[in-house]
Amino acid sequence: MRIRPEKDGEQAVVWKINQEAFGRAVEADLVDAIRASDRYVPELSLVAETDGELVGHVLLSYVRVEPGGLPVLQLGPLAVLPAHQGRGVGSALMRHALRASDAREEPLILIEGNPRYYGKFGFERSTRAGIDPPSGVNGEYFMARKLSAHNPAIKGQAVYSDAFLAAG
Ligand SMILES: CC(C)(COP(=O)(O)OP(=O)(O)OC[C@H]1O[C@@H](n2cnc3c(N)ncnc32)[C@H](O)[C@@H]1OP(=O)(O)O)[C@@H](O)C(=O)NCCC(=O)NCCS
Repeated sequence: MRIRPEKDGEQAVVWKINQEAFGRAVEADLVDAIRASDRYVPELSLVAETDGELVGHVLLSYVRVEPGGLPVLQLGPLAVLPAHQGRGVGSALMRHALRASDAREEPLILIEGNPRYYGKFGFERSTRAGIDPPSGVNGEYFMARKLSAHNPAIKGQAVYSDAFLAAG
């Protein structure tokens, strides 16, 4: 298995991976909305490839921390095709996402998701890293992972982009 950035022309396959993993189009459409926005980072739309087939995808894109509007990475969605789940593809995508973000000297990564799954990758409640969840998001499911370049001066409330808000 190889983890690499998504290439031109793979948008439809990435959409399908997200749609099949979540069993609905919401997250797949969210990926497309973020891709079309100024929050998209092409190098951080990562795919997992096995035997020439794309089987997983993860996206990191920018949200803002207010006051100040500092752009901070948020991870999600993370998706693995149902037939390939439980074999380490999701974990490999997570590890690669953390390494790539660290190499860019990003201070931290935010996630809205299941603490049971993301805890093992070093995510903790975002408030412990000084970041309040976006308005309307349950703090139990909003987490942060500090990276090597973490700076405790980065504090405030995460604010989602229109693309995230439209996904509800
Ligand atoms: C969550 C997901 C990405 C994990 O990918 P994967 O390739 O199956 O994950 P891995 O094989 O690397 O890891 C499996 C581990 O994650 C756990 N796990 C899988 N899905 C989980 C979930 N939704 N919540 C908690 N734990 C979960 C498994 O129990 C297993 O734990 P273990 O390693 O301690 O045995 C994949 O199951 C998926 O696409 N699910 C549907 C979409 C989704 O819920 N995405 C995450 C929210 S953004």
